[in-house]
Amino acid sequence: MAVDPAIPDQLLMVPGPTPVLPEVRAYGARPLINHRSQDFRELYRRLHEGLRQVFQTEHDVFVWPASGTGALECAVVNCFSPGERVLVLPMGAFGERFAEIAEAFGLRVERMPAEYGAAPDAEAVAERLRREDGAFAGVLCTFNETSTGVLLRQAAIAAAVRRHAPDALLLVDAVSGLGGADLRTDEWDCDVVIAGSQKALMIPPGLGVLAVGPRALRAGERARLPRSYWDWRPYKAMQHHGETPYTPAVSLWYELDAAVRRILAEGLPAVFERHKKMRAVARAAFPAAGFPLLASEADASPTVTAACLPAGLAFPALQEGLERRGVQVGGGMGPLRGRMIRIGHMGALGAADLLRFFALFDDVLADLGAGGAGRAHAAAAAAAARVGLAPEG
Ligand SMILES: Cc1ncc(COP(=O)(O)O)c(C=O)c1O
Repeated sequence: MAVDPAIPDQLLMVPGPTPVLPEVRAYGARPLINHRSQDFRELYRRLHEGLRQVFQTEHDVFVWPASGTGALECAVVNCFSPGERVLVLPMGAFGERFAEIAEAFGLRVERMPAEYGAAPDAEAVAERLRREDGAFAGVLCTFNETSTGVLLRQAAIAAAVRRHAPDALLLVDAVSGLGGADLRTDEWDCDVVIAGSQKALMIPPGLGVLAVGPRALRAGERARLPRSYWDWRPYKAMQHHGETPYTPAVSLWYELDAAVRRILAEGLPAVFERHKKMRAVARAAFPAAGFPLLASEADASPTVTAACLPAGLAFPALQEGLERRGVQVGGGMGPLRGRMIRIGHMGALGAADLLRFFALFDDVLADLGAGGAGRAHAAAAAAAARVGLAPEG
């Protein structure tokens, strides 16, 4: 069966899904295997061992057929009981979604919102937890806020939780950060870390991955929120067989296995360094074209950049011009709708993609008669040379 010729190749600069490497796709296209077989158990063992390294944990990792939102719900229903109080630290649309999931299940949610474009102040969080003296059953945060391009100071938040609310569970939405930014699950004592497959893990959408520490597993034994499909206890019970309780998304497991091995072959420090260089390029190019950056240098995400549209430029016109050139980007979400452009620069996206993007971006700006036309690509190329990001990487 021929692939539909009406779908041309796209340069996927959206902050997920991200491009999938041909070698990873090819690995996922292998013939299906029985998920109750020795071949599968071998895949299970290898994939989980690799994922533990990427999550920087020695504890449990569970892989669900789910989008990131499903995996967030999984974390909530396994950790808490009706009426418990949780502190949520939203810094954008996805932090807000985490809070809404907790509310939907009857938790008493208190928000400490950060201004959009900034990360919460860890000192203020510490002070709040100290004052509440153990009243929160959990703290829910977003490691990398995709709607604003902000990276949380996760180590400082985790330290505040451990110091002032030692029994609270720390749940970390790392859907768009894991595999692109350093997240030390065990060293920072995070209880549940949630990732999605379609971001820096660089495979198609469809897998939610959770790293679950011992404190969270113990809480899961007592938790009374309703759960059935999302109950992680059957996953835990079957892990020593190397099987999952329900049919796993085997082809995506193959792809994730290949992607994880690639990440580990490059080495986590090198992967994180490369993402920081991609950030430097994006952050040089947008302002050069007259698009101010939303996040400060100190708060900037290494996987996503959000820039503000200059006065007089409408997002739909910009998006349409880019789409006509085969380029997909994100716009503002929630209160930032219509005011932003957001791009992802994570996973398999490399310097050549980023430079190509900014050349096409310049082109569109010129078409639209925008003031900064012709400057983004030059600034991107100069930044890439300065940080030593090779176009092929
Ligand atoms: C930080 C963050 N959390 C949660 C989600 C939700 O993931 P999904 O759309 O796969 O449900 C996303 C998706 O972009 C995200 O970036």
